[in-house]
Amino acid sequence: MKRNPIIPFALIAVLGILAMIIFSVVGLNEQEKIANPDEGGEEVTIEDAEEISQSCIGCHGGDLEGGSAPSLQNLGSKYSQKEVRDIIVNGIEGTAMQGGLVTNEEAEVLAQWLVEGQE
Ligand code: HEC
Repeated sequence: MKRNPIIPFALIAVLGILAMIIFSVVGLNEQEKIANPDEGGEEVTIEDAEEISQSCIGCHGGDLEGGSAPSLQNLGSKYSQKEVRDIIVNGIEGTAMQGGLVTNEEAEVLAQWLVEGQE
């Protein structure tokens, strides 16, 4: 019996379709990872606060003692932790203080660190 000449093409087509399905599943997973960078990543803790505060030193000074922006030392005497977190997340409208410099999770930890006193 003569071999059916269509079979090799059919095999390649099936392989191609399988590859497409595999790549799109892999791609969707990657997309989710990009959308939720916190997930599965390391948890942010108070120990990370000082490092996170590096995003702020450009304006608030190297030891957060104040620069072009006010000092962030002794913030606890002025604001509650929640208020500081809101400032970090939303910024202060109409000023150079921009919101969204760090993730919401980082903002929470940073606010706690700033209000409780930096050690
Ligand atoms: C581009 C410069 C800039 C950066 C970066 C910046 N800030 Fe600010 N920030 C300001 C300015 C300017 C003000 C004062 C706004 C005003 O006039 O009320 C301010 C005010 C604040 C206040 C209120 C202080 C007070 O005494 O009322 C807090 C809290 C604060 N910033 C936290 C942060 C934190 C935390 C970061 C880092 C995640 C940060 N800022 C990064 C410019 C900056």
